[in-house]
Amino acid sequence: MLQSVFDVNTIRKDFPILERKVNGKSLIYFDNAATSQTPKQVIEVIVDYYSNYNANIHRGVHALSQEATDAYERARTKIQKHFNAKHAYEIIFTSGTTHGINLIANGFSSLLKKGDEIIVSALEHHSNIVPWQMLCERTGAILKVIPMSEEGELVLSEYDALLSTNTKLVFVNHISNALGTINPIQYIIDKAHGLGAAVLVDGAQSCPHIRPDVQDLDVDFYVCSAHKICGPTGVGMLYGKEEWLKKLPPYQGGGEMIAEVSFEKTTYADLPHKFEAGTPNVCGGIAFGAAIDYMNAIGFDAIANYENELLVYATKQLEQIENLKIYGTAKNKTSVISFNVGSIHPYDIGTILDKMGIAVRTGHHCAQPIMDFYKIPGTIRASFMFYNTKEEIDTFIASLKKAIMMLS
Ligand code: ALA
Repeated sequence: MLQSVFDVNTIRKDFPILERKVNGKSLIYFDNAATSQTPKQVIEVIVDYYSNYNANIHRGVHALSQEATDAYERARTKIQKHFNAKHAYEIIFTSGTTHGINLIANGFSSLLKKGDEIIVSALEHHSNIVPWQMLCERTGAILKVIPMSEEGELVLSEYDALLSTNTKLVFVNHISNALGTINPIQYIIDKAHGLGAAVLVDGAQSCPHIRPDVQDLDVDFYVCSAHKICGPTGVGMLYGKEEWLKKLPPYQGGGEMIAEVSFEKTTYADLPHKFEAGTPNVCGGIAFGAAIDYMNAIGFDAIANYENELLVYATKQLEQIENLKIYGTAKNKTSVISFNVGSIHPYDIGTILDKMGIAVRTGHHCAQPIMDFYKIPGTIRASFMFYNTKEEIDTFIASLKKAIMMLS
C-alpha cells in the first residue's frame, strides 16, 4: 500500500522492473522522459482485463462488453477529474500525444486560410513542429517561432512581438523534453486569447510531474500520453473545450464515430465518439485510469518536491565534473538534465553507461532545432522520476566519471 508520507523505498517495491539486472548490474533507469516504468497496480489491471473481461466496447449486449465499456468510460471520467475538464466528453482517447496533436492540426485545415499565422516555440519536440508545417503547406498559413535563450527559456518579449490579429493558433509544450524547462503557459495562453487565438499545450512531459487544471488555465487543447505517467504505451488523451471539439471536423472515418451511414450521406456521432473511430485501446484506456489513480495516491506535490531534490542533488554533482556542460538551466525546470562532456560523443558515453546498467537517452531527443541552437549533434539526457534515489545518482556519477576516463 502507498503511504501518505513520501517513502521512496516503499514506492520502489511497486515497480517489478526496478529489480532486474542489466549487463549483470542493478538497473538504474534514468530514461523516464522517454517512457516511465509501470507499477504493479497498473500491471494487475492489464492482467485482469485480459484474464476476465476482454471485449469490444459500446457494441455488445453481452456481459463482457458491458463490463469493458463501463471500465473504459470510468477511466475517461477519472481522466476528466484529474485534469478538471468540465465534461467527460471533452476527453478524447488517442494513441498518444502525437495522435492528439495531429488530430487538431488536421481539424484546423478547414478553419485556416492563406496568411493566417501559427506560433510554436523553439523548445518543441518534432511532434509539435512537423504537423504544423504540414498544416501550413495545406492551408498557406505561416509558421512563426518564439525564440529561446541560452538558458533554454522562451523569450517572452519576442512572443509578444509575434502575436497579432493574424495569429490563429499557438502551440507550446508545458515542459521541454530535451531541457526540462517549465514554460510559462498561463502567460502564453492569456496573451494568445487576448488576440482571439486558440492554444494547444503539449503536456507529454508535464503530466508525470504536474497536475494541470485545464479550466483554470483556460487552455483550449491539452494533450498527453499514458506511458509518461506510469501507464501503458499506445494510449493518451486529448482534452478540448467543448466548443472547439464541436467546431472541428472528425479526424478519421470508421465505425464508432458515426450516427448514421448511408451511401448518400453519413452523420457523425456526438462527442467524444466523433473523434474515436475504430476499436480503441480498451485495456490501455482502463490502465491509463489506473495509472492516474496510482500517481494521485502518491500526490503530485510530494512527487514534484522529491523530484526537485533529485534534480538539485544531481545537478550539483554534475557541475563539479571538468568539461561537463549542462544544456538548459532555466530557473523553472523539472527533473531532466541534458549535458555533454568536452568533445566526447554522447552516444559513446551512453553506450558505456548501459554496460554499467544505467539507462539514459542520447541524441537529439526529437528536438533538432534545440540542438542546432546550441550547435551540437545531441546530448546525454538523464531524467528522473519519483522512484529514483540519491544512491542511484551517486552510482551514476561514479560510472560517468569512469566512462569519461575511458574515453579521454
Ligand atoms: N519524447 C520522448 C523523449 O523525449 C520519446 O524521449
